[in-house]
Amino acid sequence: MSAKLEGKTAVVTGAAGALGSAVAAHFATEGIQAIVLADVNLDAVDALAETLREQGVEVATERLDVTDGDAFDAMIHGAATRFGTVDTLVNTAGIVSPNARIHNLTTMDWERSMSVNLTGTFHGIRAVARALRKKANVSIVNIASVSGLTAWTYAAPYCASKAGVIHLTRVAALEYAKEGIRVNTVCPGTFPTALHDTLPAEALTAIEARHPLGFGAPADLTGAVTFLASDESRWVTGHSLVVDGGYSLP
Ligand SMILES: NC(=O)c1ccc[n+]([C@@H]2O[C@H](COP(=O)([O-])OP(=O)(O)OC[C@H]3O[C@@H](n4cnc5c(N)ncnc54)[C@H](O)[C@@H]3O)[C@@H](O)[C@H]2O)c1
Repeated sequence: MSAKLEGKTAVVTGAAGALGSAVAAHFATEGIQAIVLADVNLDAVDALAETLREQGVEVATERLDVTDGDAFDAMIHGAATRFGTVDTLVNTAGIVSPNARIHNLTTMDWERSMSVNLTGTFHGIRAVARALRKKANVSIVNIASVSGLTAWTYAAPYCASKAGVIHLTRVAALEYAKEGIRVNTVCPGTFPTALHDTLPAEALTAIEARHPLGFGAPADLTGAVTFLASDESRWVTGHSLVVDGGYSLP
């Protein structure tokens, strides 16, 4: 069986996180030739970079805050110059909002989620469109959440930002379909990571009970991301691929 990403190049944001690092590691097993591991916090990326290099992948690491649009532009431009092109951008960077109802949220709580989750994704799509439209066969994979499709209490900024990512994906898919850029979203259910450190244990237990297949793990999502990044999904764009252990069925 041939590798799905043979010879391709990728940029992964949030690469120090649970999902971002799993995606990068999986891309290496699928033949990725070169990858940029980008995160606001690079501490955890070095060990991953070393492992990928040992597997023959050309790796660059970048300290990137996705809320900085100019820095995102520079990173994509730099990667395209260094590697010849960027075939895939995976927008994984994300944060959760405080566990609170709307009347207890500050404007800053709201703006922080919007700025990282939604504006950060916008910056990534814009950077790729500016640097690579009409030049390549590019796939952008945005990581949203089932919380963008189903309403959660105590999580309004997170839900609204992820719903925004889903719809932004559809608009971007339409705008760039004729210029060689596909844009899709993966909507994960819950897989416990550092993202949930601020959640009370009883909230996590309640969330797990709503997943017919139980909680997932990053490895349960990497196949979906790889499919959307690869040419196997060449006729798929604007889609939100739900990977949630059945969470959104009822
Ligand atoms: N864990 C889940 O249950 C779950 C469910 C649905 C969706 N998601 C989404 O999956 C993505 C990854 O989540 P995870 O569980 O791996 O979380 P994680 O906290 O392990 O990883 C998130 C990464 O994003 C980085 N990051 C945060 N703000 C950033 C910024 N401004 N610029 C650049 N990088 C930044 C963090 O440093 C971290 O490395 C997020 O978008 C999250 O919303 C997660």
